[in-house]
Amino acid sequence: MLALLPVERGSGVSLHRQIYEGLRRSILDGLLHAGQRVPSTRDLAAGLHVSRFPVLTAYEQLLHEGYLEGRVGSGTFVAAALPDDALRAASPPAPERRPPASAAPQPRDEGGLRPFRVSLPALDEFPHAAWARLVARHARRLAPEHMAYGDPAGLAPLREAIAEHLRTARAVRCQADAVLIVSGSQAALRLCAAVLLGRGDRVAVEEPGYPGARAALGTSGAELVPVPVDDQGVDVGALHALGARVRAACVTPSHQYPLGVSMSAARRLELLEWAEGQDAWLLEDDYDSEYRYVSRPLGALQGLGTAARVIYIGTFSKVLFPAVRVGYLVVPPGLWDDFLAAREALDLFSPTLYQLVLADFLAEGHFGRHLRRMRAVYLRRRQALLDGLARHCGGVLAVHNADAGLHVATLLPEGVDDVEVVRRMAERGLAGTALSTCYAGEARRSGLLLGFGGSDEGTLAAATQTLGEILRGVE
Ligand SMILES: Cc1ncc(COP(=O)(O)O)c(C=O)c1O
Repeated sequence: MLALLPVERGSGVSLHRQIYEGLRRSILDGLLHAGQRVPSTRDLAAGLHVSRFPVLTAYEQLLHEGYLEGRVGSGTFVAAALPDDALRAASPPAPERRPPASAAPQPRDEGGLRPFRVSLPALDEFPHAAWARLVARHARRLAPEHMAYGDPAGLAPLREAIAEHLRTARAVRCQADAVLIVSGSQAALRLCAAVLLGRGDRVAVEEPGYPGARAALGTSGAELVPVPVDDQGVDVGALHALGARVRAACVTPSHQYPLGVSMSAARRLELLEWAEGQDAWLLEDDYDSEYRYVSRPLGALQGLGTAARVIYIGTFSKVLFPAVRVGYLVVPPGLWDDFLAAREALDLFSPTLYQLVLADFLAEGHFGRHLRRMRAVYLRRRQALLDGLARHCGGVLAVHNADAGLHVATLLPEGVDDVEVVRRMAERGLAGTALSTCYAGEARRSGLLLGFGGSDEGTLAAATQTLGEILRGVE
């Protein structure tokens, strides 16, 4: 092994890079064969007379890239199945002077368009003709006022159309003057953090929950307090146990992210009562509530009670497409001025062209038609996924919840590392999210979130077959 790694100090190439390249080359050239155990980082460092750090960094990168795999408690091995693109790139580039790869920012990869990518709608079913007509209509003759600075609250006709949709489809209590247009729900959560939270405040987040919400709320310097979720939604008893000083709780009542449960009516009322008693705000992230397969869509939490304690957040990312980057808040009256000022401070206003297009898309009925059509599409895709899971992954993967939204929450047997499964899925061209990554604290469950929105039935059937093969390899 040491003979394969002629490490040279002062060569201008970092030690970790030399070790990484040497191991990678030996694997690709077949000098180290699939399944072969490699020395521990400690032993290799001792053998090479280097510190352990460059060896650890090299191993980490090789693990990340799929050349090596770790088995808990039994060491590190050459991967059984090498990533295809690694084999294609079998000739390594000449060593270069670069900062250690582990220190360079990793490109963000949440699955792109790959099967099982969560939060991806059916882009192949998008009504391009109607959309293109509206884009062309407005782009062709943009009025000067639509080219100048826009209203930070958003375009009036779009706010009207959204308020109408929310009242009828989501049972939200609102008028257009409470609707604030922003660039997606992520921006809405950022805004809530800016307006409602300060350093040292406490904000409750669901556990497990949406990592993006934690990232947005954390920007305020507030302390994030994870609160467990059970089969009725967030545990309000646990919220009470936190005592006073909790300024807000961020919840996904229609379709809990990631586990999928819908908050029961009793729990919703308890939650509203808690917020009232604590003088706390409820941030309702209603990110994909329009699709529910086991009953009619549930009304929003905001529509219960007086709505004065709830900041409702919605988005077009799942019902149209994420790149449209339009979301909105329904702001309680007493907070409007603060939210508007914060929105203006953030980025003034949202691009007017897409707001014009969206306003017409909603007002002319395209949106309603699209939602109805997509419900049928997603029902079929969801069924294809469930059928495929039953056929290929039964006995290993248990479906936890498939009631709503664009992903199915599944559980892996105890002891199976979901991050490792997702890594192997990526090697085979699949996406998916490891449930354990949704925990702020120690992960209590291991599982896979499998998106079905973005792939047709045939693709999902094939993807579940591949997933079954992967799961049989990690059992
Ligand atoms: C629970 C949840 N909230 C918010 C978002 C962010 O959506 P947007 O694209 O509107 O920022 C997502 C996206 O996946 C999500 O899953």
